[in-house]
Amino acid sequence: MTDRREDAKHRQLDEVRVDPANTELTTQQGVRVGHDDDSLSAGARGPTLLEDFHTREKITHFDHERIPERVVHARGAGAYGYFEAYDDSLSRYTTAEFLTSGERIPVFVRFSTVAGSRGSADTVRDVRGFATKFYTRQGNYDLVGNNMPVFFIQDGIKFPDFVHAVKPEPHNEIPQAQSAHDTLWDFVGQQPETMHMMLWLMSDRAIPRSYRMMQGFGVHTFRLVNGEGKGTFVKFHWKPVAGSHSLVWDEAQKIAGKDPDFNRRDLWDSIEAGRYPEWELGVQLVDESAEHDFGYDLLDATKIIPEEDVPVLPVGRLVLDRNPENFFAETEQIAFHTANVVPGIDFTNDPLLQARNFSYLDTQLIRLGGPNFSQLPVNRPIARVATNQRDGYGQQDIHQGHTSYFRNTLGGGCPALADSGAFHNYTEAVSGKKIRERSESFQDHYSQATLFWNSMSDVEREHIVAAFRFELGKVEAHPVRETVVGHLNQVDHDLAVRVAAGVGVTEPPAGPPNHGRRSAALSQLNQPNLTPH
Ligand code: HEM
Repeated sequence: MTDRREDAKHRQLDEVRVDPANTELTTQQGVRVGHDDDSLSAGARGPTLLEDFHTREKITHFDHERIPERVVHARGAGAYGYFEAYDDSLSRYTTAEFLTSGERIPVFVRFSTVAGSRGSADTVRDVRGFATKFYTRQGNYDLVGNNMPVFFIQDGIKFPDFVHAVKPEPHNEIPQAQSAHDTLWDFVGQQPETMHMMLWLMSDRAIPRSYRMMQGFGVHTFRLVNGEGKGTFVKFHWKPVAGSHSLVWDEAQKIAGKDPDFNRRDLWDSIEAGRYPEWELGVQLVDESAEHDFGYDLLDATKIIPEEDVPVLPVGRLVLDRNPENFFAETEQIAFHTANVVPGIDFTNDPLLQARNFSYLDTQLIRLGGPNFSQLPVNRPIARVATNQRDGYGQQDIHQGHTSYFRNTLGGGCPALADSGAFHNYTEAVSGKKIRERSESFQDHYSQATLFWNSMSDVEREHIVAAFRFELGKVEAHPVRETVVGHLNQVDHDLAVRVAAGVGVTEPPAGPPNHGRRSAALSQLNQPNLTPH
């Protein structure tokens, strides 16, 4: 276990740790309490008195103990650890020090399922979230990724529709198994851009054996920016040192019944036992001059960059070595946000990313009760914070001075502008008319789904077909089944025929284009057993 004193985040957390051992019970106001079994009443059998401040305070607090669960990714588990870059090889590309300094950077990682509620089972067929908060000296950087490298939709405007379709149906909150119902498959049928991700979702990747054995992906193309202001496109990859391993569907279903905490328990137990989970961070770098060389759009989150086209360069390692001490305070209250970037990392115009950059802060304002949640211990940066933002629910800091505005000539409390180390937005040239129309380069929805299918072994294909049959076979609206099989026929005829036979749909006609090529890159994605550094 890392020594707490060596870790800036844990030194900070030490200040708020509450250890009730060997102390006497008090009220919230610090008044000692000597009796906690009976409320104050008028006579031994009489009514409880309003003046009983202790009982009222205790019950009132209890009444307010629940906060909204996350609107997605409600079910999760997390841990602290550290990230360290192997060397300074990325310094040509970025001023982000945590990627180049070699120093151990404290992190908190939260893994999650997407669709289920807070109390749902771990081993359901679903995407897994893989969100990392790096507490860097330049400020908090959040890499809010998933265990699959692509996403269902291309534009965040569809996210509320997608999530409404994935969640249990609104009239009866059935079914809780998110991938087995009419609304999801209806959405999929209407949105062929989901096809690539649906192949991943029906694959074994959607039932990971352990959080320790999952890959993670930033999904979007981001941008690294160097000291000269030059940008380089980047995709982030986490590869588990333990290798990628999945359950099989029968196991997943049984475990969901017998131990709904299976993945959560596994993460906790391994850290307690000193078997620290470890991942390697890799990057795919693309020079801006090559932006249009790929035949798909780098801004399209339904596409990967095959590793045979752009190799993944290993840049550092992540180790999780400490369980949180309080699930609510830490794992539940942590707030990740794609817009939490540090100097040297910037966005692209990926329309999914742009929507995320709005959504996370917005939802956290309600989930965490107002604009000061970045002061919660788990969210607090270790970097110095000095803003002109004041007041609001839950303000924890006592700001000094009589001014809180910029520009001011009176002094008196306002922070000065940074001389160096400031975040500078990447100066990307943009032009065009305001339109609601996506570029032609986003229109191919099948090629990479075919690529994925072609990269699968026979056993993996059997599992995918079985998953489609199981999930699509639950759909009561037969036309929806037919529509989806029609899309699968665009991906691969054999796949469509095998699924059709299992879900009572007429075999589709042969002869769709075969878009894909067997990709060594995707095969590599399958089993990265890395040597620990
Ligand atoms: C939560 C990943 C797309 C909105 C999360 C979490 C992850 C994640 C990992 C859980 C964070 C945690 O552990 O607290 C992704 C990925 C996406 C994606 C990889 C696509 C590449 C979107 C989009 C939107 C969105 C398009 C909205 C337009 C949200 C919201 C939450 C969330 C509102 C809950 C945040 C909270 O309450 O703290 N997402 N997401 N996500 N995501 Fe996404």
